[in-house]
Amino acid sequence: MIETIATKPYQDQKPGTSGLRKKVPHFQQPNYAQNFIQSIFDVVAKQELETLVIGGDGRFYNREVILTAIRMAAANGYGRVIVGRNGILSTPAASNLIRQRGAAGGIILSASHNPGGPDGDFGIKYNISNGGPAPESITSAIFEKTKSISAYRIFSAPAPRIDELGEKHLGDMVVEVVDPVAAYAELMESLFDFDKIRALIASGFTMRFDAMHAVTGPYASEIFVNRLGAEKGSVVNAEPLEDFGGGHPDPNAVHAATLINHLMAPNGPAFGAASDGDGDRNLIIGKGVVVSPSDSLAVLAANAHLAPGYARGIAGIARSMPTSQAADRVAQKRGIGMYETPTGWKFFGNLLDAGKVTICGEESAGTGSDHVREKDGLWAVLLWLNILAERRESVADILKSHWAEFGRNYYQRHDFEEVDKDAAEGLMESLRDRLASMAGQRFGSLVVSEADDFSYKDPVDGSVATGQGVRIVFSGGGRIVFRLSGTGTAGATLRVYIERFEPDPAKHDLVPEEALAELIETADVIGEIKKRTGRTAPDVVT
Ligand code: G6P
Ligand code: ZN
Repeated sequence: MIETIATKPYQDQKPGTSGLRKKVPHFQQPNYAQNFIQSIFDVVAKQELETLVIGGDGRFYNREVILTAIRMAAANGYGRVIVGRNGILSTPAASNLIRQRGAAGGIILSASHNPGGPDGDFGIKYNISNGGPAPESITSAIFEKTKSISAYRIFSAPAPRIDELGEKHLGDMVVEVVDPVAAYAELMESLFDFDKIRALIASGFTMRFDAMHAVTGPYASEIFVNRLGAEKGSVVNAEPLEDFGGGHPDPNAVHAATLINHLMAPNGPAFGAASDGDGDRNLIIGKGVVVSPSDSLAVLAANAHLAPGYARGIAGIARSMPTSQAADRVAQKRGIGMYETPTGWKFFGNLLDAGKVTICGEESAGTGSDHVREKDGLWAVLLWLNILAERRESVADILKSHWAEFGRNYYQRHDFEEVDKDAAEGLMESLRDRLASMAGQRFGSLVVSEADDFSYKDPVDGSVATGQGVRIVFSGGGRIVFRLSGTGTAGATLRVYIERFEPDPAKHDLVPEEALAELIETADVIGEIKKRTGRTAPDVVT
């Protein structure tokens, strides 16, 4: 039976960069999740009997919301829901299922790399039929609905068990519980040369993948151990836990320090990698070298043709504006399109759908391709492995020869976290005020050639995004970008992205800190960071 339950609206359900994200206790307020899910259905459910994919990263509160969402889907006219067993689906696997099964969309429960548990974070986002995050037009319509919602619809009977594979019914709707890994692993087998990678591993090549007790554990065990023959111990922290074992499932220098140290040890493995809470970010490490996400994008783009799925070559590359320009050099040399978009994966969707680009990436540890419409951590690891299997060189040697061919873009991101909001906004405001007079100004040996506040016009649908970050470019190819993070929860996070191009291979062995020293100093002079925020050093450097 379909019940209509009265509810009162919440005024704070505005989706951010990646859906609605709040602390778990916030989500546990009466009808908080129900209101948001009903608002999604009100906006998107146009036709009866459509299919909806539902899954999440397994964090605390995942199962409860999934069971509720299934009952609500049955009451809102869906014909079928496809659910990962035990409610588990990585974000890229959910994107794949939506596309492969021709679903109308999907509900993905995740707060990405944020900590989980009863006091941790939780999130709900809606993806559309291309498998990608809903665009602004849909998320703002959902937000409008949440502000006036007065009732939600739910099926009175409990949802069927989701720990067993197969089809069951809830009213007229089919609930299909699927193996969360199978379809995704098959997609990966269709893109990469598993025989070659298996041969590489059989030849003694050693690796370690850290699943950080998050969603990629079962995926990595199936792919690396069962299908590619890596030793059992090569996938660590493989069991997904509701609180990620108390850690931050964020594959960066701070939270993946144990893995990085393991790779730096003299008898460590040849290759290391990690992914985040919901499986869309990646970290790539070689012996003695951590690959920066911007370099990884450039190397993957330059070598993608070595993998069967990309053997015909790539159509173009897209990167977010603050990502280093290393990939641009690849696009230029290969004569393919290059697109610079604002921060956020959703900006790649139209370019991928239109076939203008094949590979996309961001400095924030995201890389992916047109195989799904989300960034994809394990995809990046497998493409690296496919390239290593073809070239039979170390990660460090591949980087070295890449720089020798294309030049090196030294790069660092400096994060100033929990800065006073007014101070951070004042800093950006002051930069914007000075933009017009910036060109021609000299700072030490650096001369500003161009300065602007980045705006983007989508070449497919013509939509415009303004105020996406201040860029200051110097003659000779140096660049400083200032922007405020769109994902922080406390105060403001100021991100300063610093980059310098070095064509001379004799100068490719510098520590980035040294190679960028003058630009780092200049960033403080131009941005007045110390003066305005009181911070003498960044909290995190990546
Ligand atoms: C999320 C988005 C990415 C974005 C990243 C950093 O992971 O999916 O597309 O690059 O956040 O965003 P921020 O605004 O914090 O720099
Ligand atoms: Zn993520």
